[in-house]
Amino acid sequence: MIYEVECWSRWLLHTRFRGPHGKEALDFLAAIRDRVLDRAQLRPGDYVLDVGSGDGLLAFGALHRVGPSGLVVVDDISQDVLDECARVALTAGVVNRMKFVRNSATSLSDVPDGSIDAVLTRSVLMYVQDKQAAAAEFRRVLRPGGRISLFEPISRIKVDRHRFGINPGPIAELAERVEAAFRLAQLPETDSMLDYDERDLLRLFGEAGFSRLDLELHIKSRCDRRDSQWFDAMLSRQANPRLPSLQEAITSALTADEAAAYIAYYRQAVATVGVTTREAFVYLSGNMGS
Ligand SMILES: C[S@@+](CC[C@H](N)C(=O)[O-])C[C@H]1O[C@@H](n2cnc3c(N)ncnc32)[C@H](O)[C@@H]1O
Repeated sequence: MIYEVECWSRWLLHTRFRGPHGKEALDFLAAIRDRVLDRAQLRPGDYVLDVGSGDGLLAFGALHRVGPSGLVVVDDISQDVLDECARVALTAGVVNRMKFVRNSATSLSDVPDGSIDAVLTRSVLMYVQDKQAAAAEFRRVLRPGGRISLFEPISRIKVDRHRFGINPGPIAELAERVEAAFRLAQLPETDSMLDYDERDLLRLFGEAGFSRLDLELHIKSRCDRRDSQWFDAMLSRQANPRLPSLQEAITSALTADEAAAYIAYYRQAVATVGVTTREAFVYLSGNMGS
């Protein structure tokens, strides 16, 4: 299997926190990290596996909690992000308490059966088409009594909404063409980011043999007025590596005059009507019966 992995390192290491709201995003992630780690009930000496580690948000947090007698196995499909984690670990003097493996979540072949106390993952299953295979692998690598703790967005909640939650009114036809460019990149019916919800995750992990599952669903909606600087950041932001930026979608779908009308409409609307965001995500934890 050939992984399209370059997109991950580019997006994770270089573009994800670009723009004036990078600090906000980092604070948001730190709160998620702490909650995932709390729910995993890590203990000193535990062996922990972080699946889809990215730049090590969970892995480095876990390292602190398992202490010098524990081990953190850092897994990702991207060699570049693993190299970056290893570089940070080396600099911090903790590389001997970590192990780095390049496996897909659906085939953790470098992790032996029953060798792990807790599997952690954040925003990775959303990119995995065969989530059932991933759940089975998490079970395989866990010791009896081992735990999972994960966080995943439920992105389906965003399908079929107006961009920025704003009625496009007079530019509806232009807006539809821009949205079609996004749909082309990510088919809502079959894309791994959009084809599941919280009940699917609960069912998948139940069927994989986890007992005592505990799922917290968070749904948030808010409306805020936003300025031109925010709008410019949104134009260039790539929400995930599979999608074009808004500017790229506009350029591919509209003529220059149409693009100017589209941008002018939304630039004004975000400042006057406001942007309504809606997001849903879950924390899921569970045990393997001992
Ligand atoms: C949104 S990032 C999350 C990174 C990290 N877990 C965090 O909390 O910051 C998704 C990560 O999953 C990795 N990934 C994508 N598909 C994967 C798969 N099938 N198996 C393992 N890792 C995968 C990507 O390389 C990327 O590092």
